[in-house]
Amino acid sequence: MIMTDTVQKDTAQPPKKVYLKDYTPPVYAVDKVDLDIRLFDDHAVVGAKLKMIRAHAGDLRLFGRDLKLKSIHLNGQELESQAYHLDKEGLTILDAPDVAVIETLVEISPQTNTTLEGLYQAGTGDDKMFVTQCEPEGFRKITFFPDRPDVLTEYTTRLEAPKHFKTLLANGNLVESGELDDNRHYTIWHDPTKKPSYLFAAVIANLEVLQDHYTTIEGREVLLEVYADAQDIDKCHVGMQALKDAMKWDEDNYGRAYDLDRYMIVATGQFNMGAMENKGLNIFNTSCVLSSPETTTDERSFLVKSVIAHEYFHNWTGNRITCRDWFQLCLKEGFTVFRDQSFSGDFRSKAVQRIEDVAVLRAAQFAEDAGSLAHPVRPESFVEINNFYTMTIYEKGAEIVRMIANFLGKEKFRQGSDEYFARYDGQAVTVEDFLSAMSVADARVMDFLAWYRQPGTPVVSGGYRVLGDKVIINLSQKTRHVPNYDAPVALPIPVDTAIFDSLTGEMLASRMLLLTTDNAQFEFDHIQLSDGAHPVVSVLRNFSAPVKIDFDYTDEDLASLVAFESEGFNRWQALQILMNRWLSGSVEDATLIISVIQKAVDELIEDDPMLAARLFDIPSQKELAMAYDENYDPISVKARRDELIGKIADGLLENAKLWYQKLPLQAYEDTPQARGRRLLRNVLLNLRLTAGDEMAHQDAYHQYDNASCMSERLGALMAMIEHNLDKKDSYLDDFYAKFSHEDLVIDAWFVAQATPDSTSVSQIASLMERTDYDWNTPNRVRTTLSALAAKPVQLWTAEGLDLYLSSVVRLDGSNPQLAARLLSALARWNTLTADKKAMAQEKLAAVTSQVSSKNVLEFLQNMQTVA
Ligand code: ARG
Ligand code: ZN
Repeated sequence: MIMTDTVQKDTAQPPKKVYLKDYTPPVYAVDKVDLDIRLFDDHAVVGAKLKMIRAHAGDLRLFGRDLKLKSIHLNGQELESQAYHLDKEGLTILDAPDVAVIETLVEISPQTNTTLEGLYQAGTGDDKMFVTQCEPEGFRKITFFPDRPDVLTEYTTRLEAPKHFKTLLANGNLVESGELDDNRHYTIWHDPTKKPSYLFAAVIANLEVLQDHYTTIEGREVLLEVYADAQDIDKCHVGMQALKDAMKWDEDNYGRAYDLDRYMIVATGQFNMGAMENKGLNIFNTSCVLSSPETTTDERSFLVKSVIAHEYFHNWTGNRITCRDWFQLCLKEGFTVFRDQSFSGDFRSKAVQRIEDVAVLRAAQFAEDAGSLAHPVRPESFVEINNFYTMTIYEKGAEIVRMIANFLGKEKFRQGSDEYFARYDGQAVTVEDFLSAMSVADARVMDFLAWYRQPGTPVVSGGYRVLGDKVIINLSQKTRHVPNYDAPVALPIPVDTAIFDSLTGEMLASRMLLLTTDNAQFEFDHIQLSDGAHPVVSVLRNFSAPVKIDFDYTDEDLASLVAFESEGFNRWQALQILMNRWLSGSVEDATLIISVIQKAVDELIEDDPMLAARLFDIPSQKELAMAYDENYDPISVKARRDELIGKIADGLLENAKLWYQKLPLQAYEDTPQARGRRLLRNVLLNLRLTAGDEMAHQDAYHQYDNASCMSERLGALMAMIEHNLDKKDSYLDDFYAKFSHEDLVIDAWFVAQATPDSTSVSQIASLMERTDYDWNTPNRVRTTLSALAAKPVQLWTAEGLDLYLSSVVRLDGSNPQLAARLLSALARWNTLTADKKAMAQEKLAAVTSQVSSKNVLEFLQNMQTVA
């Protein structure tokens, strides 16, 4: 029976903070749930039947947002309106019995849901599809439910829709499907695994499917499916292969096999994040699953593989063992990022993988940790959990697991992870639980808890002295005191250290040092140097801890390390330190930098061209900004950086011409070697253009015209735009025309134009006025705004900030998650020079009255309390 509609009341209250310390276990367990989702032209109807069993004293509370309640029954009886209380966030049933079967019927409007959370429409016209995003709290926008990660239950899902949506998917196994009147049909899915609601997924679409099979180490035959638009289905092979590689890798490295008969991946063009690990039914942003040589750069294609692996790895680290509450988000994300980084490192040069991961960590996570949005890897409070899918939780979270793994060594780490999986399978747990399982291998693992609780990037300083045949290394640590947190404590910091002979380059000793106090000394005995040599110390090898390092290397020692450090990451690292010294003025002459690059590239160009390419990395503007807690002037920092780029280009032009000749265009291959050659060729092309090499213009056109793949084509196009070559406009037009039906390539077309320094704010603004600039597609929105955010000289002007902040305001109503994420790029506004700082302060304050989402309001408030 249908009651009159009951609409949730809007009680406008200030955003409420939730605290980790207030955690209480769920009052009711849900034994099982039956869902019935029926899609109609302009709405959907969702029926839910929950069998709930009391576990503790208290009210029966179900979360629900933007739901129109049509009816509610308790144990078969329709509930009178005074028997329950409905508010904006959900409903409470008063005096509910210990066993309560609740049946609700609600109406929702996926067609008008622009938040990309809950059940929403993606795409328009013939491409229209309906997908879900439930993590972290989207399920409550589909039906009333105890939507929290520690309520695990068994789902049966019926989907019903018009037949032109031929794809009807939900988690688990397909148990039934059939036809209905009115050109409608249905499917019924059953997921045998108990899971939290954030892992629920459903798809109603019209997609093609690529199928494959995998037999697990346990002998299970698994059907693998990747669903995409017909025009994209041939771009799913890379992802499919990555999925099989990931399944095998997890068996080999962690002893973990897949546990259902079916694994599905669905690609959608409108998605806020990269992808989502829903049980047996991952939903992916097209940008993180589609890949073909013609349309996808090497960099992107590599990302596709790593995101596929990431979501697959969640099946154990996240799904089978999940989080007790959202404060523990890093438990699944940190561990899973560490796992996907390790996987990726096994498919390319490990050094390059580490360089890329560390470059991101340093530019983005260190900046976050140094700014007004700094928070611990496990936060203790939040207003909007969506605001905490951050670099700190993901990347610093991964670094902590990596430190534990390195500290334990391979075997003991495996012993700890085996214990974790055995002990907590099927449960919702905490960071403490993770550490306690790991500590079966070594009790000191528990000390790493401090890393989860304390914000701020530690600075490790040190040096060494020689005493006879001993080398004595002293190290000290210091972490800034982040306002509103306890005074920082000393953390356990693994410092992987080696000693080399300055003349022979031979490694004489190496050891993992563990700094656990503010200061400590470590001795290396019996260091046998060759005649006339001195020891060259190399610390924090492979970036053994997420810290800033300030070690008193001599410039010559750094140059030696670039030449002979056997660990590739530290070769790169030594060069980065030298560059930083030049940029900060403590090294005057750039010739040392130029000569070490030249020698190293000569040596690496054949065997590891990817590492050779990375040696040209100049510390990013964002990283350089971190040196300033106040008076940061983007213009002078950029000028100094450009000067170094110019000096390196001039100094290496003749070499670059020769190197370039060694890298002719070749037929496409997807190997580390071929990818490295393509990257190095693009780097050298840019270098030659920077140095004013006229011949390089023709080479850019030639590379575009004869490109075998997108890395070559886009590399050439970006170089033409960056260096303002004569024919750049006609090439841009050609590119657009060739790829006008490929949304992801058109995204790249926007990025290519918005990125160069020569593109002004008003040019970016005009890109955003185009009709193909779709404000409802996050990928498209990010093309220009992320480019602007990466250009501090333009961002921190009145014009730049106006464009940026007006976009945040515009998105606040339609997609608050995206709006808040964009806003967070301004978190270090308070470190600017006085005039820019005052301007930013005023403009940020003006935004407050124009927005209403708790996502944006929470960030604005946190950003403003640091002024
Ligand atoms: N768990 C997903 C991943 O790590 C991210 C989903 C986050 N979604 C969100 N709306 N905040 O791949
Ligand atoms: Zn994840």
